[in-house]
Amino acid sequence: MATINDNYLKLKAGYLFPEIARRVNAFASENPDAKIIRLGIGDVTEPLPEACRTAMIKAVEDMGEQASFRGYGPEQGYAWLREKIATQDFQARNCAVEAEEIFVSDGSKCDCGNILDIFGDNNTIAVTDPVYPVYVDTNVMAGHTGLANEQGEFEGLVYLPITADNNFTAQIPTQKVDLIYLCFPNNPTGAVATREHLKAWVDYARANGSIIFFDAAYEAFITDPDLPHSIYEIEGARECAIEFRSFSKNAGFTGTRCAFTVVPKALTAKAADGSDVELWKLWNRRQSTKFNGVSYIVQRGAEAVYSEEGQAQTKALIQFYMENARIIREQLTAAGIAVYGGVNAPYVWVKTPAGLSSWEFFDKLLHTCNVVGTPGSGFGAAGEGYFRISAFNSRANVEEAMKRITEKFKAS
Ligand code: MLT
Repeated sequence: MATINDNYLKLKAGYLFPEIARRVNAFASENPDAKIIRLGIGDVTEPLPEACRTAMIKAVEDMGEQASFRGYGPEQGYAWLREKIATQDFQARNCAVEAEEIFVSDGSKCDCGNILDIFGDNNTIAVTDPVYPVYVDTNVMAGHTGLANEQGEFEGLVYLPITADNNFTAQIPTQKVDLIYLCFPNNPTGAVATREHLKAWVDYARANGSIIFFDAAYEAFITDPDLPHSIYEIEGARECAIEFRSFSKNAGFTGTRCAFTVVPKALTAKAADGSDVELWKLWNRRQSTKFNGVSYIVQRGAEAVYSEEGQAQTKALIQFYMENARIIREQLTAAGIAVYGGVNAPYVWVKTPAGLSSWEFFDKLLHTCNVVGTPGSGFGAAGEGYFRISAFNSRANVEEAMKRITEKFKAS
């Protein structure tokens, strides 16, 4: 008789975003005339940059010619894309990252989950609370946790609360943890890490032989010139960190799919016999076995992000969404609602008004304003009483949503 991976039964009923979609669809079918505005999932709405489209069209033509047709590409990504990433995203910021250390993939969500393949099952794992749910759920699926308690906290994980009191940046743990997930600019709170904060983490990780999983999917939204974009801007990070990056949010590739992971050659972790093993080799082996690379067409599109036009067009896209974030912050503040984030990140983290729980506020916004956001409690127990609003939408939708919310809450 075939059996299942019982760890899946420990997961909460639905992944957060499908659960939101379920509630919104139920509301929409009962209220077919409601003009629902979705500021929930952080999904881009604006068209792909022209430079990317042009490059992809050209790549399609290449595939139609005998001489330039490509079959399987390198599992790690084409050298021309890895070179551009290494020089423009890292070396230009004085990070010693080489093209060989870049692994092009079809998404950071996949990479964040897949990376667990090369780590042991006995690591102590730390996540912030609230947190991007993928970090937790993939560890549950891999059998790295016990059951969840009533607040949804899984036995065996170390939760590091991030609250307004600590500027939504976790305290360095006093206990020893082996794997640490950090996300800056932060999803969901929109918080950022200073150089000093990241240095404290790097120092901790080096002292304890820990590995930091640094999710920098939103680095392009940093506006403050003093903030680090990559963990490799911090001395010693090559010895303790893996970084995840994505073209989803800066270049609008959520549907097109392209991302990359940086695994430095110097990075090691322990084998069962106590020897040091290079993580690069394991990840390279994992990718070569389980992944066939991102399509040539998509990688050509991603490469175009690094052209002069691509840089100008992605900058304009980011500015567009950040203007949305500014509108959201200002309008909600004017309506007497406390907000955080949204300055160096496309997410605004809202304190729910009038003591409403996160899901109560979700239902109220959906039913009275026909606006969808994401309940903070869906990101973890410490997210209760908060609500995330995404700046990814058209200007007209953001303005209309803010008008509806401020009218409702100013009046109440
Ligand atoms: C989010 O809304 O948190 C993001 O869209 C999730 C993701 O990028 O996978």
